[in-house]
Amino acid sequence: MKVTSAEIVISAVRPEQYPEGDLPEFALAGRSNVGKSSFINKMLNRKSLARTSSKPGKTQTLNFFIINEMMHFVDVPGYGYAKVSKSERAAWGKMIETYLTTREQLRAALLIVDLRHPPTKDDVMMYDFFKHYEIPCIVIATKADKIPKGKWQKHLKVTKETLQLEKGDEIILFSSETGLGKEEAWKSLQARM
Ligand code: GTP
Ligand code: MG
Repeated sequence: MKVTSAEIVISAVRPEQYPEGDLPEFALAGRSNVGKSSFINKMLNRKSLARTSSKPGKTQTLNFFIINEMMHFVDVPGYGYAKVSKSERAAWGKMIETYLTTREQLRAALLIVDLRHPPTKDDVMMYDFFKHYEIPCIVIATKADKIPKGKWQKHLKVTKETLQLEKGDEIILFSSETGLGKEEAWKSLQARM
């Protein structure tokens, strides 16, 4: 897809702050530092529209982006970061759970996992959460550039097996470094709009 415009709409915490209207929406989910914000930037051909960091915990709010006046991407804080307090974790949980379970415009969640390692317990929980709430889920296995091409299929298999990926759920090999998987990801999103 050709991205002709992309900008931030709002950094939201509460539902009253979510953008109005019925544009189709896609939300990122995944471990802290896995590459959610980098995924957004690569998809939009923008270096730093979504703020990234080599340290986990960069994204703290629900950040809504509007693309081609046609759809929203929602960047979401990551889970599994050890250095947050219990109360912060609970607040994060509430914010993301409220968003994911009530947002009617949400067409699919993009679960970003690290292709290099088997999905974590938290990743599996997140996937099960989507299944439970019947939220369509596309798995993005990112950082593919960090392992040799010859190992991709083996790692994909481990990812699928660990998540117990259901038939019909898509999994896309991706790299925010090289752009691998970008067209496939766009195709998948466009099919859901
Ligand atoms: P939080 O906002 O903390 O939840 O993290 P995030 O999931 O948004 O991660 P972010 O996009 O900020 O990326 C974290 C780090 O991983 C940064 O240093 C990125 O440059 C790096 N990174 C992300 N995607 C890739 C990728 O596909 N390949 C490589 N080599 N590095 C990546
Ligand atoms: Mg982020």
